[in-house]
Amino acid sequence: MTTIDQADEIVLAVCEPGPLPWQLPGWCTTDKGKRLVRIAAASGAERCVELGVHGGRSLVALALGLQVAGHGKIEGIDSYSAEDCLEGELPDEATRQTWVAMDYEATYAAATGAIKRHGLEDVASIIRMRGDVRALDYPSGSIDLIHVDGNHTELVSCRDMTTWLPRMAPKSTWIADDTNWPSMQKALGMLQRAGFRLVEKGSEGYWSVYARG
Ligand SMILES: C[S@@+](CC[C@H](N)C(=O)[O-])C[C@H]1O[C@@H](n2cnc3c(N)ncnc32)[C@H](O)[C@@H]1O
Repeated sequence: MTTIDQADEIVLAVCEPGPLPWQLPGWCTTDKGKRLVRIAAASGAERCVELGVHGGRSLVALALGLQVAGHGKIEGIDSYSAEDCLEGELPDEATRQTWVAMDYEATYAAATGAIKRHGLEDVASIIRMRGDVRALDYPSGSIDLIHVDGNHTELVSCRDMTTWLPRMAPKSTWIADDTNWPSMQKALGMLQRAGFRLVEKGSEGYWSVYARG
């Protein structure tokens, strides 16, 4: 059984910048990863989703939290496609170039490898699909916890809100990334109108947790 301390060590290994061979590509910081472990562990969630896996940093953290809790599963959804990353109005040219130059196959391999390496196969899986398309396979009200960290343009974040919100259970947790981006504000308004209230702002100010019920 994984303990919180063991989970923290793994989060450190996968998120901390450095030359470690098991460090994963991505954006989730060690601080956010450690919080995600605790949020998942304390949530009581059974059915969880992450939209936007990339190298698996935040998926590993959430899966470790479920492993600590001893119950719950998470499906990571990521299309690993430049076309999907470039959809909508991106904030700047540097961001556009990041997605154009990305090695999507290597990133996918890093995420699936991390699930195996950390013994999380019973808790976490990854499906390569566009987020809003995969949402249609989930029944209404069936998700207890979601981490949405996909394409943060207004077009796609609002579309993801429209498709995923009806799938959330009456009592559920929504973790949103890049909540300080202007392009995210319309989607966050939709989230709050659906009854989710802000319960935590990530220490670095770029991600937030919402809950309802
Ligand atoms: C910011 S990264 C995710 C970072 C990751 N959660 C972490 O902790 O490092 C965004 C990911 O979303 C994926 N993505 C973008 N648009 C998508 C869409 N419409 N459907 C599915 N995945 C998408 C990209 O392929 C990319 O890997």
